[in-house]
Amino acid sequence: MVTGASRGIGRQVAWRLAAVGARVVGLARGADRLAEVRARARERGLSFDFRAVDLRDSDAAGRTAHAIIDTFGPPDLVICCAGHSIHRYLAEYAERFHDVFRLAGVNYLGAVAVLAPLADQMARRGAGHIVSVSTTAADVPTPGWSAYGASHAAFDAWLDAVAGELRAAGVAVSSLHLPRVATAMSAPTAGRYPVPELTLNQAADAVCRVIVRRPRLVRPWWATAAGGAVHALPHLADRLWSSLLRAGVRP
Ligand SMILES: NC(=O)c1ccc[n+]([C@@H]2O[C@H](COP(=O)([O-])OP(=O)(O)OC[C@H]3O[C@@H](n4cnc5c(N)ncnc54)[C@H](OP(=O)(O)O)[C@@H]3O)[C@@H](O)[C@H]2O)c1
Repeated sequence: MVTGASRGIGRQVAWRLAAVGARVVGLARGADRLAEVRARARERGLSFDFRAVDLRDSDAAGRTAHAIIDTFGPPDLVICCAGHSIHRYLAEYAERFHDVFRLAGVNYLGAVAVLAPLADQMARRGAGHIVSVSTTAADVPTPGWSAYGASHAAFDAWLDAVAGELRAAGVAVSSLHLPRVATAMSAPTAGRYPVPELTLNQAADAVCRVIVRRPRLVRPWWATAAGGAVHALPHLADRLWSSLLRAGVRP
């Protein structure tokens, strides 16, 4: 099962899984886009089914998970790839709480709402693999990415806490923290950073490596280093960001 299968990284990964013979079920809101993927898959004799759901509706997300279990049984593999991003500084969203709510609704609460029943059934069966596609913004707290980073960090923290329970029941958990990837999501802030971004294929390659090797956590070395430094020395990180912002740097 792949959430966020209608476009971007999720669609690319869903397509690759179908291409190697998996029976894929994709989730997203856009029924039309999902139906296009299914039509293309059927033309090639590949198996792709879908359920259209807005993960911000946690009741609907839970019902969808149960419908999938009833129809297909507990999945062997769940890729959590549905997500939304908004880049805004505090002053820009202080009076727009719905931005925070929308991000948490899909990146955290919706992800848990759909995954919890599936993970529970996978654990009862004693097998399976859950892959979370997260972001380096969850490792490196950055002005402008507070609501986005926090929504992914919340899901990471939830998954880290249940990973031991799942592992004890035979279910593997992997977290992949990607840097920027050239998709519709990152397009509004494209060219803003002097760092290389992954292509869609490179991001899908990274997800596929995680599916095959089942590592617990994969992230770029610099996210490990910067994240560790920020949490060990938060006052220095505050001073650094404060100096950069005063000098006109807008991350
Ligand atoms: N692009 C990057 O630079 C980057 C970097 C690191 C991590 N990530 C993470 O990787 C994941 C995928 O990103 P992407 O770049 O592939 O994004 P994308 O191209 O915008 O695709 C997002 C996917 O999530 C689905 N989605 C969004 N809101 C949803 C909702 N409320 N309910 C159900 N499905 C929803 C979208 O489908 P519908 O619109 O049809 O619902 C779409 O299939 C996200 O979690 C993102 O945070 C992205």
